[in-house]
Amino acid sequence: MTGKCRIWRSMFMRWLCRIGRAKQRLIEERCAELILSDEQLREVCQRLLVEINRGLNKDTNKEATVKCFPTYVRELPNGEECGKFLALDLGGTNFRVLLIDLGPHVFHMESKIFAVPQSVMLGPGTGLFDHIAECLATFMHENQVDVSPLPLGFTFSFPCSQEGLTKARLATWTKGFKCSGVEGEDVVKLLQEAIARRGDIKIDVMAVLNDTTGTLMACAWKNPACRIGLILGTGINACYVERLENVQLWDGDHDDPKQVVINTELGAFGDNGTLEFIRTEYDRTIDQHSLNPGRQLFEKMISGMYMGEVTRLVLAQLTREGLLFDGMGPETLFEPGQFFTKYVSEIESDKKGEYTCCRQVLEELGYDDASDEDCANVRFICEAVSRRAAHIAAAAVACLLNKMGQKHVTVAVDGSLYRFHPHFHDLMVEKIRQLINPGLTFDLMLSEDGSGRGAALVAAVAVRIGGLAAR
Ligand code: BGC
Repeated sequence: MTGKCRIWRSMFMRWLCRIGRAKQRLIEERCAELILSDEQLREVCQRLLVEINRGLNKDTNKEATVKCFPTYVRELPNGEECGKFLALDLGGTNFRVLLIDLGPHVFHMESKIFAVPQSVMLGPGTGLFDHIAECLATFMHENQVDVSPLPLGFTFSFPCSQEGLTKARLATWTKGFKCSGVEGEDVVKLLQEAIARRGDIKIDVMAVLNDTTGTLMACAWKNPACRIGLILGTGINACYVERLENVQLWDGDHDDPKQVVINTELGAFGDNGTLEFIRTEYDRTIDQHSLNPGRQLFEKMISGMYMGEVTRLVLAQLTREGLLFDGMGPETLFEPGQFFTKYVSEIESDKKGEYTCCRQVLEELGYDDASDEDCANVRFICEAVSRRAAHIAAAAVACLLNKMGQKHVTVAVDGSLYRFHPHFHDLMVEKIRQLINPGLTFDLMLSEDGSGRGAALVAAVAVRIGGLAAR
């Protein structure tokens, strides 16, 4: 290269760098609305507390968005529960049947996963419950537990108004389900009717519960400090142990322990407009195109079902504005639903400054000549979206910890987003620390298989304390 060429080349490189930096600054500016200050997060905490109290209060519960359903689960496991239990776990695209053999402080588990086809998720309710009954029967025959009825716990992870430990009316579908004829109905009755239609198996439903309750129970079985159950997966939600005196809707007895697990259904936080101060155009687009517009607005800012799509919308918008991929980018970026939440986790698993996973994801999307600069910007956007999700989830946990005011609480957490995102746990811990009241401490504990195991535990506790009568 001649001297002149070298000079031209270095001028050109400097010019490119300057453009690169300018683009980066513009991208940062365009993403600023996704980065929430501590002051905004404190406001989220406070507003959520208002909504939870409205849910717990008899006079305001009807209009409350965060319904705070009492679960009728009042005793936590003590590790002494024994016996064989069946559990059903429905809450996403997969459905699980489990057989759990509990002994003092040990358990053995067999389980099988069955897919729930989209046609079933959106078809008639009888079709869904017939599918569940068929999977249960297959499992029971395969495991030779079809002779005498076993006690069963049913984890049904949708908002339900409970009227007892074995009676739960579906309030509304979430997470991509929309089966007709189920809203307003008792899902245990629908399950029992489907089983009766088959006539080849017998079960004894001991409890119906939410996955948050299952997660709490599975963790409390090992750790008595556990008082909150949190799911960060396809959907999001939390439950916690509340004193009976604070639950005006409580219609059960007031014997000891004077407490009950409350299923907050905080995914619906914001459905009355209270989160508009932090929602963005991306959140509004997601909501408009969802199966349940105007509902589960908090969930749509955080959960695994939507986080990939929020990221895609930001990436697509900034590509259109010419700030990414020289304004072109992969075609799939412009197709709804094509950027999965797992991609965000994968891109963020690269070491800083390395882009191996990022390039793999972009190749999967059909784009194989991403520059380092593009990869850095894509990662920045993924981080902005996932940090926002982790920080608002942290604000929700901090709100519950402050409300409970107990010196130390263990939070049981489960869900694919929490499990597979490489930084979600750390981001949450750091932010919760900043948002809780002085003097309080906490830890986040992964609750392995909570929603399935927890169902068996709720059933087992019911058996231990004479739950057959409590049904
Ligand atoms: C449901 C909750 C559930 C959560 C996590 C939400 O969409 O409404 O009942 O606990 O997802 O699975």
